[in-house]
Amino acid sequence: MKEVIRLGLAGLGTVGGGTYAVLKRNARDLLAACGAELVVKTVACRNLERARGVVDEGVEVTSDVHALARDPDIDIVVEVMGGIEPARTLVLEAIAAGKHVVTANKALLALHGNEIFDAARRSGVVVAFEAAVAGGIPIIKALREGLAANRIEWVMGIINGTSNFILTTMREKGLSFDEALAQAQALGYAEADPTFDIEGIDAAHKITILSALAFHTPVNFKAASVEGITKLAAEDIEYAEEFGYRIKLLGITKRTARGIELRVHPALVPKRRLMASVEGVMNAVVVKGDAVGTTLYHGRGAGAEPTASAVVADLVDIARLMHGRRANPTYLAERMAALAPQDNTVWLPMDETVSSYYMRIGVADKPGVLADIARIFADNAISIETMVQRGSEPGEESTEIVILTHSAVEGAVRRAIAAIEALDNVHGPVVMLRKEEMN
Ligand SMILES: NC(=O)c1ccc[n+]([C@@H]2O[C@H](COP(=O)([O-])OP(=O)(O)OC[C@H]3O[C@@H](n4cnc5c(N)ncnc54)[C@H](OP(=O)(O)O)[C@@H]3O)[C@@H](O)[C@H]2O)c1
Repeated sequence: MKEVIRLGLAGLGTVGGGTYAVLKRNARDLLAACGAELVVKTVACRNLERARGVVDEGVEVTSDVHALARDPDIDIVVEVMGGIEPARTLVLEAIAAGKHVVTANKALLALHGNEIFDAARRSGVVVAFEAAVAGGIPIIKALREGLAANRIEWVMGIINGTSNFILTTMREKGLSFDEALAQAQALGYAEADPTFDIEGIDAAHKITILSALAFHTPVNFKAASVEGITKLAAEDIEYAEEFGYRIKLLGITKRTARGIELRVHPALVPKRRLMASVEGVMNAVVVKGDAVGTTLYHGRGAGAEPTASAVVADLVDIARLMHGRRANPTYLAERMAALAPQDNTVWLPMDETVSSYYMRIGVADKPGVLADIARIFADNAISIETMVQRGSEPGEESTEIVILTHSAVEGAVRRAIAAIEALDNVHGPVVMLRKEEMN
């Protein structure tokens, strides 16, 4: 039984600083929660002078992150540095040294999770990662514990605050993508290099982790189909609104009879769904289980203390485990690593996924175009829910057709789009977005 649990904090930036502050401020409550004192023994980062200004006297500060794994007095290594290296090596070194690990690093887990969880299983230590998905929202715990009775059917999430802020700003202010991105950067919601956020990569890292948890598979980032928000036009947001939808960047993973879908893309969400009202930098995840139906988790997906809330919750879990207050929770580590060798999961290619669709087609305002388009849809067994013509003023030669479809197979939709784009009276590429009714 440990009365004091010593932590090595790798990284003292946004999340590391928040974690340090929450541990210090809530020390008494945390002691009551887990029966042990959680004490930061050493902090590792690059700017030592800045770090000394943040931590209290008596906390060691080093630029050698690997020293945390070597130190026999450190019980838990908290990796909040980000990036793949040296984070991966540090985590593996800590595990090899018999230390538990808490990490907020979704990129690391999405790409190297199987290696890390397998090492953790062999060493008998915990790798906890609540902060890696949806920041302060306890979605990992919900899937792992609260929903454990269920056969999960699907998980969908708004899990990238930066893109959600941009989409909200585009809709509310009628701005273009570039203008909304510039606003996000000016307000500090988007980084100088926003690629991971706006191209959907960060959301794909997170939904990859949720998919593994929901369906008990190894982590498979390569199976993810990823599309960001950079090509969205303001008019598609307006049309969606007109038809009763909001456009959201969704991470989606679904169990189907033919395999597992894993995808990130902008999608039309009915305005009547709570998810449509998740605005700005907020995150939300909806999980559908066979017993419980749909449940929604909403909160701050990033920021110093919201993320620290998740990091410290993991520390409390591990401290309780070390303090003998609780049986070892079945962590992803054990389940996934045990499954990996005989894994035969079928991951569905995007062309075989099923959605309903929104399309915007620029056409010459001539007789017969609508009939040609309707024929192509029929040939590809795609049924049209709504078809309207927009922007046609007397004397104008071109117009736009907006179509909403019923459920269709993506491959058939792509074939139909190619055939439509080849028509003489169709201008430019067809804009295609998916719809998620969230039933
Ligand atoms: N920010 C969020 O809201 C948020 C939310 C959820 C998850 N996360 C994840 O949490 C992790 C940390 O994010 P963050 O926003 O806190 O990052 P950050 O503010 O950039 O802080 C990174 C920290 O790690 C240190 N560091 C980086 N590389 C290092 C190296 N090679 N050697 C030693 N120290 C190194 C930095 O030291 P110096 O400052 O001294 O250079 C800094 O203290 C990432 O995996 C991120 O994806 C972040």
